[in-house]
This record gives sequence, structure tokens and C-alpha cells, in this order.
Amino acid sequence: MPTTRRLIVAAAAVGALTLAALTVLILLEIVEILAGLTLGLLICATGLMFLVALSVRRVDGKALRIDGRVKRQEAALAKVANALGSVTERLEQVAAAAEARGPRREEDLRAILTSLGEDRVNATLARQEIEKAVGDAGALVGTRLDHVEKALTREFRQGYRQVEAYVDLRSLIEPRAPLPELRGWAASPDLLHRLVGHICEHRPRLVVECGSGSSTVWLGYAVERYGGGRVVSLEHDERYYALSRDLVRAHGLSHIVEVRHAPLRPWRHGAESWSWYDEDATRDLDGIGLLLVDGPPGATGPQARYPAVPALLDRCAKDVRILVDDAARADERAAVRRWLDEFPLEAVEHEADKGLVTLTRATP
Ligand SMILES: C[S@@+](CC[C@H](N)C(=O)[O-])C[C@H]1O[C@@H](n2cnc3c(N)ncnc32)[C@H](O)[C@@H]1O
Repeated sequence: MPTTRRLIVAAAAVGALTLAALTVLILLEIVEILAGLTLGLLICATGLMFLVALSVRRVDGKALRIDGRVKRQEAALAKVANALGSVTERLEQVAAAAEARGPRREEDLRAILTSLGEDRVNATLARQEIEKAVGDAGALVGTRLDHVEKALTREFRQGYRQVEAYVDLRSLIEPRAPLPELRGWAASPDLLHRLVGHICEHRPRLVVECGSGSSTVWLGYAVERYGGGRVVSLEHDERYYALSRDLVRAHGLSHIVEVRHAPLRPWRHGAESWSWYDEDATRDLDGIGLLLVDGPPGATGPQARYPAVPALLDRCAKDVRILVDDAARADERAAVRRWLDEFPLEAVEHEADKGLVTLTRATP
């Protein structure tokens, strides 16, 4: 649509051209001056009226548009006022309801806040407990792993030592029959190695063993190889007595090794009593150069092996060597402590598969 400005310019241009044309016509005397002026004035008046009419129309249009806008805004304002009215009304209702409930609502609110606070406190405590538990579990796992690692290291080291001792033992002895098992209920190679080493070095005349089994054969082979002594093995259990005796026979060692059946009998020392090998089985023993304390089994009573020293020390040679197997066990350790308190003995503890203590007479 043409703007007002353009219409005015167009009207002014048309007016100016018309006046110019009239002036030319007057100058050429085609139109008389008076008629020309009258015509010019008419044209100007018509133009002015046109412009006024146009302006009025435009102003009207604008006024109409403004009016429409005002009406729309009024309608929007009415809606807002309406909405505000209902919000106010709702707030009044809520306030009235809150007032009606009064303290209960406050209590409820407080309870909710408290429970929320408690929940948070509980959650924090639970988290701390979990963290502590996880920490403790971690520490426990760490400790267990340390133990497992130590146990494995020890087991590997011991395993190697047993193989090493066994290989060495087998290079010294030529068995004439299949050898019985070692370790577990029987002596471990490291103990046998020490026994054979002592026999090789000191050639004891009499070797006594409390508790027969695999070691009996090895003692027999060692004595056979290193010197003219003999071995007496005390066995309380009739079945194992027969087994050990047959084993000795199978290895052709009966001329060196005597397995003696010596049932356990009450043995008294002061006010105390133990179960110990029948004294009849030990009465003739004299000058024991090597004594292996490896029986009776711990299950036969507390500190089951304690009587070994009080019962046999008098039958031992001056340079006796007493080897105590299973010295890693509490009962054997207690028995050793007691011997050291009660008899003039010296002890050396060795790192061994099942624990080993050697005792000798104390030097005066
Ligand atoms: C600690 S074991 C040691 C026996 C022996 N000094 C040795 O090292 O082989 C002690 C007892 O085990 C029992 N024993 C002997 N031969 C056995 C066998 N083949 N199996 C299981 N126990 C046996 C006997 O009663 C023996 O007194």
C-alpha cells in the first residue's frame, strides 16, 4: 500500500506539473490568465481535499487498529485478573484449611523434617558403617592373604627342603624293598636327614625310637651303613607293631632293628600320671646314644610324650642326642619347656617340616 508520504509527493508532483502546464498555456495565450488561475486554484483545492480525505482515512484506520489492540489487551487483562482472582480464592482456601488444621500440620511438617533429617543421619551412619565394614573386610582379606602368602611361601620352602633331604638320603641308602611313605603321620625327610646325619657322625651304639613306622626302616639302614649299633623301636599299638615289624623284615633289617610291642601303662611322676610305654619294654635299655621322641600319639593324653625324658634319661649315654619331632605343636613345646626346667638339658630349635627340637645334656 502507498504510504502517506508517497501520496503527498505524488499529489505535489501532479499539482506542480498541472500548474506548469497552465503557466505554459497562459504564456502561449492559449488560456486566459483568469481562467488559468481559476483552474489552477481548483486543481490545488481538489488535491488538498484529496489529501485531507486520505489523511482522515488513514487516521481512522490507525485509530481502529489501536482500538482493537486496546480491546485485546483489556480482554487479556480481564483474563489475568480472573486468574488472579481464582488463585487468591484458592490461597484463601488453603490458608483457611491450614488454619483449621493448625498445630497438627506443623507437627506433621516437623515430623517429616525430622524423619528426613534422621534418614539423612541414618544414611550417613549406614554409609560410614558400610565404609568401615568394607575397610575391615579389606583389612581382613589383606591379613588373610598375608597369612596365605606366608603359608604358601613356607610350604614351598618346606617342600623344597623335603625333596632336597630325601634326594640326599636316597643317595646314601640303597633300599631292598619299597620304602614306606613319609610326612603326614610319618617322619618327614628333614628329620630323617638329621637322624641319619647323627648316626653317620657319632655312630651311636644304641638308637631308641618312641613310636614305630617309616622312620624305623631309615634308622635301620643308617645304622647298618655307618656302624655296628642297633635300633629299638617302641610301639604301643599292636597292629602298627606288627606292620612295623613286617616292614623291618621286608627290608632285611631284623638283625639291626627290634620293634618292641610296649602297650601304654599308667606312669606316675610325683602326683601326676600319664600313659607311657610298659616299663618292661625299656628295662634293659642302656647307653642310648640317639633317642627319637615321636610317640605315643598326642591323642593318648595331654603332653603324652613328657615321660620320655624322666623315664629314659637315666638310660642315655652322656653324649645322648634327643630329637623331639612335632615340636611345632603346643603339647610338645610344653613338654620341652618342662624338661628344660627339670633336667640339666640344653635345647636347640630347628626350622623343620613339623618342628624339631634337639636336646643334649647341659655342659656343667
Ligand atoms: C607319629 S607316628 C610316627 C611313627 C614313626 N616314628 C615314623 O616316623 O614313621 C606315631 C604312631 O603312628 C602309628 N603308625 C605306625 N605305622 C603307621 C602307619 N602305617 N599308618 C598310620 N599310623 C602308623 C604308630 O602307632 C606310631 O606309634
